[in-house]
Amino acid sequence: MNRFLEKAEALDNTDSLKSFKDKFVADPSLIYLDGNSLGKLPIKTIETTANIVENQWGKNLIRSWNEHWMDLSKDIATKIAKIVGAQPDEIFVGDTTSLNLYKLLFASLTLQKEKTEIITDDLNFPTDLYIIQGLIKQQFKQHTLKVLKSTNEIFMDTATVSEAINKNTSLITLSLVSYKSSFLYDMKTINNLAHRKNSLVVWDLSHAAGATTVKLNETNADMAVGCTYKYLNGGPGAPAFLYVRKDLQDKLTNPIWSWFAHQKPFDFNPNFIEKTGIEKFAISTPSILSLGAITPGLDIILDAEMGAIEEKSKKQSAFLIELILQYLVPLKFKIASHLDKSKRGSHISITHNESYRINRAMIAPKNKNTKIVIPDFRPPNLIRIGITPLYTSYLDLYEAVIRIAAIITTKEYKKISTEKLTVT
Ligand SMILES: Cc1ncc(COP(=O)(O)O)c(C=O)c1O
Repeated sequence: MNRFLEKAEALDNTDSLKSFKDKFVADPSLIYLDGNSLGKLPIKTIETTANIVENQWGKNLIRSWNEHWMDLSKDIATKIAKIVGAQPDEIFVGDTTSLNLYKLLFASLTLQKEKTEIITDDLNFPTDLYIIQGLIKQQFKQHTLKVLKSTNEIFMDTATVSEAINKNTSLITLSLVSYKSSFLYDMKTINNLAHRKNSLVVWDLSHAAGATTVKLNETNADMAVGCTYKYLNGGPGAPAFLYVRKDLQDKLTNPIWSWFAHQKPFDFNPNFIEKTGIEKFAISTPSILSLGAITPGLDIILDAEMGAIEEKSKKQSAFLIELILQYLVPLKFKIASHLDKSKRGSHISITHNESYRINRAMIAPKNKNTKIVIPDFRPPNLIRIGITPLYTSYLDLYEAVIRIAAIITTKEYKKISTEKLTVT
């Protein structure tokens, strides 16, 4: 037997997390390597969601606000806090990642208005960059933005960040794990560098939460945002979360004054009085149907434990890199992620001139008997292979790489249109 296949089977046999994949809806005709974009559906979520719809909404109607719904966001915050190393009263769950980022950037720039420089990098997600650009154009007109240049869009040297921070730096905002290359910052080092110059840091944890150990309290992190629909398996467009360190909460104000940020929304007082604590970052009536769907995925992660998830992610990434070097590099693929495991999140990116068509051939094979493999494509030429240790097997990785190689050697990709779909 092929030594890589043998290794995959041996690693699967001894995998302590192998039973967790049975907690997710599975389709034996496909290999899913896109949990870094949209996590799989936990089986329990079907029942949980049905209960909210049929019983809590259908039968109990508005009484459910007091009986089930008003504390739902806090219950979920308590679980997310455990996953990202924070206290329950430092996490708010609701709204979207972009909206939460807007709130925190606005609040922190207002707090240190005398300092007028913002730092980010070219590895950051576009929405993060757009929000900063908009804030400077619309509100913080004296501010300037420094976008740090990475090495080959793969990684950032700590020295580059260190040299950029100065006493006029108000804010540094970065993705802990880069959406393209998977580069993982050393959160503690960056927080320390920033704090030495009295600068604040806002982290985007979207590609980290649930995949990589995040220690917000231990690294003295100021603020963070993140989504719940990737490795947290909360469902498409599930509400996001934000984190603000306890001692900063009183100093910051939500830029959007609305009734859920009011101390007593149900007094219907015409004048705004801001809530204290993390709940001041709420805006509106919580989206109960999508909030409710988040809980089962978080319970699975807490049950499996983040340490074990991260350990498997690192082991699977190492195996995937071995496979890529063996089968894909000779076919003109390049690895676009850091080779040092301490500098990577839980996906590996590869590049090829024909990435888009290869990605489409993987998702929609011409031969109906061929297994579907779902990664994703990011321009200009990246295929991101997402590893979700809760349901990705070593055999999945082996089969996926063999399939990619076959798409090249049989020239199957040449039969695919170059026209891009809306969501890639
Ligand atoms: C790193 C990162 N930040 C922000 C977002 C945007 O999140 P939302 O659509 O919830 O605003 C995404 C979306 O995929 C993302 O990957």
